[in-house]
Amino acid sequence: MSEQVGFVVWMTGLSGSGKTTLGIMLEAALRARGLRVERLDGDTVRQGLSRDLGFSKADRDRNIERVGFVAKLLARNGVAVICCFISPYRAARDQVRAEVEHFVEVYCDAPVEACAARDTKGLYARAFAGELADFTGVNDPYEPPLCPEVTLRTAVETPDESLQRLLAALSEHGLIPVEARG
Ligand code: ADX
Repeated sequence: MSEQVGFVVWMTGLSGSGKTTLGIMLEAALRARGLRVERLDGDTVRQGLSRDLGFSKADRDRNIERVGFVAKLLARNGVAVICCFISPYRAARDQVRAEVEHFVEVYCDAPVEACAARDTKGLYARAFAGELADFTGVNDPYEPPLCPEVTLRTAVETPDESLQRLLAALSEHGLIPVEARG
């Protein structure tokens, strides 16, 4: 029996750029291929592992450091790890990259206007109204990846198109089999 190679798919992008939606879709697609999968998401991690942290640069960096550590442990034990975090700072993402053997950075590239138009959590409205400080893309920085393995134009492509491109990239990197198991 061949061993599953562990890897980390790191989804970065603004709030509302589709990280969680695609992360959930990717999780299902990888499970359908028989892989062991774990998904780590800012929305849940910030209620547990990082519930003591806010959104200053230092706290965001600490959040990413913690999650990166967990992802590394899982990946080195053969798990496919999907991380969905704004992770706005390039250096923090690159630190995780340096720690993980198979790291696939996925940039969910959607303009702030498109993310704000969805505003499923109502946070953009609050940020634009000046009621929410340090909100990424409005009054806090986002540093896009310079050389991501994959860029998904989530405001232009359908979620399924993005998923197919993501799966193709993972098989090009030799991390997943090309076809779903029948
Ligand atoms: S990160 O910057 O440290 O990577 P993370 O992905 O864990 O952020 O959490 C982002 C989520 O926290 C957002 O999807 C949003 O729901 C919520 N949130 C609350 N306040 C902020 C803020 N000031 N900036 C960004 N996200 C915020």
